[in-house]
Amino acid sequence: MHVAMIGTGYVGLVSGACFADFGHIVTCIDKDASKIERLRAGGIPIYEPGLDKLVADNVRAGRLFFDTDPAEAVRTADAVFIAVGTPSRRGDGHADLSYVYAAAEEIAGLVDGFTVVVTKSTVPVGTGDEIDAIIKRVRPDADVAVVSNPEFLREGAAIEDFKRPDRVVVGAHDPRAEAVMRELYRPLFLNETPILFTGRRTSELIKYAANAFLALKITFINEIANLCEAVGADVQQVARGIGLDNRIGGKFLHAGPGYGGSCFPKDTLALVRTARDAGTPVELIETTVKVNDARKKAMSRKVIGAINGKDLTGKTVGVLGLTFKPNTDDMRDAPSLDIVPALQAAGAQVQAFDPEAHEARQMLPDVAFKNDPYAVAQGADALVIITEWDQFRALDLDRIKPLMNKPVLIDLRNIYKPDDVRASGFAYTGIGRG
Ligand code: UDX
Repeated sequence: MHVAMIGTGYVGLVSGACFADFGHIVTCIDKDASKIERLRAGGIPIYEPGLDKLVADNVRAGRLFFDTDPAEAVRTADAVFIAVGTPSRRGDGHADLSYVYAAAEEIAGLVDGFTVVVTKSTVPVGTGDEIDAIIKRVRPDADVAVVSNPEFLREGAAIEDFKRPDRVVVGAHDPRAEAVMRELYRPLFLNETPILFTGRRTSELIKYAANAFLALKITFINEIANLCEAVGADVQQVARGIGLDNRIGGKFLHAGPGYGGSCFPKDTLALVRTARDAGTPVELIETTVKVNDARKKAMSRKVIGAINGKDLTGKTVGVLGLTFKPNTDDMRDAPSLDIVPALQAAGAQVQAFDPEAHEARQMLPDVAFKNDPYAVAQGADALVIITEWDQFRALDLDRIKPLMNKPVLIDLRNIYKPDDVRASGFAYTGIGRG
């Protein structure tokens, strides 16, 4: 199959490279000429484990191409994927669909022969209908089927999630389109991955419902963690105790500083807006959004409380991890963006290390960036783990202790055993370990 991928951001590049690896001929297209130039020269604009090799292998095999001009790739494509951004619109929280609609218009002018137009971007219910209408308006003669095929890729594990998904969801109304989608994902069905064919609106909603449910699950365990602190229980054991019930499941029950990233905050907000507009508010998700926002702010109070309870003037706080989660360079809606400025506002000097958060240097002014965890510990009155990068899981506490002004460890990801840390002479604060 021939595939044109419009938008070479995170989702577009990972999906394009994976489709090429399945044996299809893929052209990834982006308006950003410098990005395309960089990819052509073998560079990768994002950090995602395994992506550099996957891209290089498929470029070498003659299956993966990059272009700023969509004309040729769209003309010859069996499927054109729209994988452009859908950021939250400023002011109202709705998904901003201007890039999606602009892509639809451009595609309409270029298609030739039967073509499946697939939305990979996360788009509100009804967007497929709108894309269909745009294409029919621009090119009444176009033989096009518009399909929804949401992605469920976790950053840091995106290639694995693409190649070994729990399921593939396809919202289509046209049997010819279903056949193309089946062919595109054929290697997965050989592994018996379930493929769910639904209506287009249903497929669009599945994506939002899945992300909202996961955000809800995290927020639930975070509130239980607060309760654990108040009543002297351990959230890790509560999570395990409930997660072993198959009806609940053990995943996404890890209490922490609140969810962030490019999807959950934006998609929960968009679902709230869609539901309100439809006159059927999803109050559970409205509350989830509110509770999570408040939690990210509350984390700085927790840190301040663990240090001395009030003013941090003259104190130095060492921060380990700034990205919204490990194995990504993504800073979008990261808890660190709430926590670090609040510590500074309380008077602290903040010194930090993150292996990939290059953008943090612009986003977090007045932070002293260090090159490793031990440099962060130097002279610090407390060490705060905000992101659970693997390299923070086995720090040499005996080496760290004499470096610090005061041995205080605040572990917002519960990656240490409290007793072990205390045995090394530290004061320890975790999440929900009452
Ligand atoms: C998510 C979805 O998992 C993916 O299916 C979707 O398509 C895109 O959004 P991603 O944002 O990359 O993926 O990361 P994910 O691993 O889901 O984590 C999201 C946030 O939740 C992170 O801030 C993470 O730290 C937090 N989280 C996750 C928890 O606090 N506890 C958990 O148990 C799991």
